[in-house]
Amino acid sequence: MTDERPIGVFDSGVGGLTVLRALREELPGESLLYLGDTARLPYGTKSPDTVSRYAHQAAAHLIGYGVKLVVVACNTASALALDEVQATLGDLPVVGVVRPGAEAAVRESVTGRIAVISTESTAQHGAYDREIRARRPDAQVASRGCSLFVALAEEGWSHGPIVEAIAREYLEPLMESHRPDCLVLGCTHFPVLTDAIAGVVGPDVRIVNSAATTAAVVRRELEARDLVRSTAKPSLRLLATDSPERFLRVARRFLPAELLPENVDLVDLS
Ligand code: DGL
Repeated sequence: MTDERPIGVFDSGVGGLTVLRALREELPGESLLYLGDTARLPYGTKSPDTVSRYAHQAAAHLIGYGVKLVVVACNTASALALDEVQATLGDLPVVGVVRPGAEAAVRESVTGRIAVISTESTAQHGAYDREIRARRPDAQVASRGCSLFVALAEEGWSHGPIVEAIAREYLEPLMESHRPDCLVLGCTHFPVLTDAIAGVVGPDVRIVNSAATTAAVVRRELEARDLVRSTAKPSLRLLATDSPERFLRVARRFLPAELLPENVDLVDLS
């Protein structure tokens, strides 16, 4: 059976495109609809109530396009609002990125000493700590908010002396105090900065992000419901809540070949 409905994906900005790219690789026959809530970015410094409200609005907007599954491609919204969003969407499957990220960390870490970098809200909420220790009770998890990384990624700055200096400032104390063998990129914006981050943490620390693991979870969810699409010409459509031109310009760094101006629309969630 084939199901023509798209998979809906949302984040506060371009960060979730790292997940979209993994979905494209894992499920090349699926149409994808991506919403970047750029007008209200960042989510990661907002209160839980505000993030939850934004997440509900974003998910509801995607439902309006008839999506068959919603991916919350934002760690902050996954940490603070995933279960609530799932509760309001009933039978429609919802996949977040924190549990797949925790799964990947537990798989990659040998010593169980795991560091998680994320937005401030995700770090304060302790979701990674709980999800990792639910899978490996002896794990020692240290979390650090690195909110400036979001701004760098949205600005399209992925390398250079300023990025490296900020990465050192955030990461060196964490590496010295915790000595992890695994570092989780607990924000979907951070994979853009992987080279700069790797330059600080060194080759002995495995860097994991939840994109590929999330895409594998989405595949499992679709297969379980017999909803996988296998047609040859899947569509890719982007929605932004502010300046589609700017969104496209930055988004092209993530998915260069596929994006054209006619694929990006301005929408209003309020
Ligand atoms: N990309 C998001 C995350 O994974 C949020 C970034 C932000 O808006 O602060 O947490």
